[in-house]
Amino acid sequence: MSPPLSFAGKVVLVTGAGGGLGREYALAFGERGASVVVNDLGGDIKGGGKSSAAADKVVEEIRAKGGKAVANYDSVEDGEKLIQTALEAFGRIDIVINNAGILRDRSFGRTSDQDWDLIHRVHLRGSFQVTRAAWNHMKNQKFGRIIMTASAAGIYGNFGQGNYSAAKLGLLGLSNTLAIEGRKYNIHCNTIAPTAGSRLTETVMPPDLLESLKAEYVAPLVLWLCHEQCQENGSLFEVGAGWIGKLRWERTQGAILRHKDQPMTPESVRDRWDQICDFADATKPANIQESLQTLVEVLSKVDEGQGLRANRTSGVASSA
Ligand code: NAI
Repeated sequence: MSPPLSFAGKVVLVTGAGGGLGREYALAFGERGASVVVNDLGGDIKGGGKSSAAADKVVEEIRAKGGKAVANYDSVEDGEKLIQTALEAFGRIDIVINNAGILRDRSFGRTSDQDWDLIHRVHLRGSFQVTRAAWNHMKNQKFGRIIMTASAAGIYGNFGQGNYSAAKLGLLGLSNTLAIEGRKYNIHCNTIAPTAGSRLTETVMPPDLLESLKAEYVAPLVLWLCHEQCQENGSLFEVGAGWIGKLRWERTQGAILRHKDQPMTPESVRDRWDQICDFADATKPANIQESLQTLVEVLSKVDEGQGLRANRTSGVASSA
């Protein structure tokens, strides 16, 4: 059997690690030899208040098991300060888990500017600030592992979570680009959409479900994605209840609705709607080059006078 995964010598920052999922990640990294920065603002679930107690408790738990940990109580909006704590305590930063989060659920029409802004500041801007502060250190050492925390609410939508859904899928877009920019420096960025019982979900889940969806069933994926052996980059996973699945984009073959030297009309869109939306023979474009390549092919088909279905795109690359 291959040896257990060790994080000895690695420095990990887990944001929002005073409770819930973040605490579980921090404990798991600590148990496997990492030096852990336990960040938590210690406020309430709506983003109000602050306290050092939550982070301190997790630091004590890690130390009690013989691990190395320090606390940081700043908001993720002050990303530089969090990374500074890692550098001062341990001299480097290898792994960043963007996990801190709050909720301000409202049906869309009742969403205030504050409900929108606070959610974006903590989830999206906070992850940006923290990750940017770590980025050059990771580049210089040619190693980095970053996790973004999205949500099923972002992937699928969820009533009353317009602000949260938007911020959470914004993180996926950021992660996709960081995966591309980081690749040549051995910086990998992946996104998870976890489900676990926590104070964030206790109002929406029945108590028995809350109890059985343990945060400890999410941590192993986070640890694997952050290990130096793991080559996964730019991916999205749903994880919970002891199950892990990977997601990707799927695209219909679509339809070309334009004929050379003729106008394109909304009626032609209506008349071909079934074909546009037909997922039979769907393709799975994996990058922007494959996406653009389709359009190049469409242009040449229209030029040749073929108002037909678009060609398959898989496996075709362009230098665009
Ligand atoms: P939690 O409320 O138990 O943990 C979040 C932690 O973040 C709290 O300890 C809180 O004090 C901290 N925090 C909040 N704002 C902060 C800030 N500005 N700076 C630093 N720390 C801050 O919630 P849970 O469930 O563990 O959530 C963790 C992450 O997972 C969040 O990003 C959440 O949106 C996401 N998530 C959780 C799901 C679940 O089923 N529990 C579902 C989908 C996503």
